[in-house]
Amino acid sequence: MNFEFLTLDDVYLEDKRVLVRVDINSPIGPDGRILDENRIREASITLRELKDSKVVVMSHQGRPGKSDFVSLEKHATILEKYVGRPVRFIDDLMGPAARSEVLKLENGDILLFENTRLYSEEIIEASIEDCAKTLLVRKLSPLFDLFVNDAFPAAHRSQPSLVGFAYTLPSVAGRLVEKELKALREMTPRLKRPIVYILGGAKIGDRLEVIETLTKTGLVDKIIVGGLLAPVFLEAKGERITSNNVKKDKEFESSVERARRLLRWREEVFLIPVDVAVDRNGERVDCPVGKILGEYRIKDVGLNTVDMILNEVSKAGSIIANGPLGVFEEEQFSRATMEVLKAISRSNAISIVSGGHLTTALRKLEAEDKVTYTSTAGGALLHFLAGKRLPIIDALEIGKRNAEKLKLIKERR
Ligand code: 3PG
Repeated sequence: MNFEFLTLDDVYLEDKRVLVRVDINSPIGPDGRILDENRIREASITLRELKDSKVVVMSHQGRPGKSDFVSLEKHATILEKYVGRPVRFIDDLMGPAARSEVLKLENGDILLFENTRLYSEEIIEASIEDCAKTLLVRKLSPLFDLFVNDAFPAAHRSQPSLVGFAYTLPSVAGRLVEKELKALREMTPRLKRPIVYILGGAKIGDRLEVIETLTKTGLVDKIIVGGLLAPVFLEAKGERITSNNVKKDKEFESSVERARRLLRWREEVFLIPVDVAVDRNGERVDCPVGKILGEYRIKDVGLNTVDMILNEVSKAGSIIANGPLGVFEEEQFSRATMEVLKAISRSNAISIVSGGHLTTALRKLEAEDKVTYTSTAGGALLHFLAGKRLPIIDALEIGKRNAEKLKLIKERR
């Protein structure tokens, strides 16, 4: 496939100082353990190829304030296992310690920088031009010859470490970006109707944005809402969700308002839970909407809702599933996620299962080879399927021009 940007095949890599942005943001357990190594394994493919370069790796992990916002120190050990060469971790990103270590690198060395989101600049979402003006980009750019972007799961984010190097460093895509984009570009025109989205997980704002786009473009026939989207849509339908389930802040209120607008406009597209499972002192109790035991936390969609979802899955031409429907790490609340994944893996529909948590659940079922495609990306994949632009691809196009100027491009045979 011809891309609008350069890949590792197009440039000279030997002896070069290469800055690689990957996305090894992984599910983290309550004890701080990395629960799934898939993204780290995928990131290692590009790094293995850079054996004759001096390599620095950057990634984010979690979001400030969330329990999975941790250091990348443990990731280094796992990365090392998959790359097959030492990966040295440094708890710095652009300070003097990090910069002096970069200058000491020899060919074949790999240095992993600390979680990019420890630095406030990285939390902003800004234009490529504004990201290019950040301190991160200004401090690191002079140290490198080339920028490799392999962070496909974060392709929908426009943050400094992802897009900011477009104007200062020649940029090429890594193997994961290449692989995912190729697969998705080939698969999208083949999607058959009815197209069913099953959306769970915790990233409410992102998912609402995608749903709004999908309902406008009409590239969807059914949207099933679970995870933390379920309370938002239930409240929008008039159910009173208690504050032990959701933080009743302005953000929640505005999400509920967006859900109300969507329901007023195209309610027939949505499947909203008719029952939920709450956690009564460790016991799963299914209760119908209207009789939710509000003093206990909602941790899964209910079993009647699961039956309705299975019915939609059986009629679907294409299924796109993203994010777990409940707290799947706790066995009694993993039922909806697991039942639905089993049904998807048995279905003849084109099926895409995406995002760290859901693909982890699919692997637990040993059903990865029974779906059409699993993607390392969650939000980025949904943005792509909804037809939205991916900022890292725009940045790679700009970064191609630098490579042309600096004569880093190999002659095409
Ligand atoms: C993801 O897991 O979707 C990506 O790593 C992006 O993470 P974010 O939603 O916290 O930006």
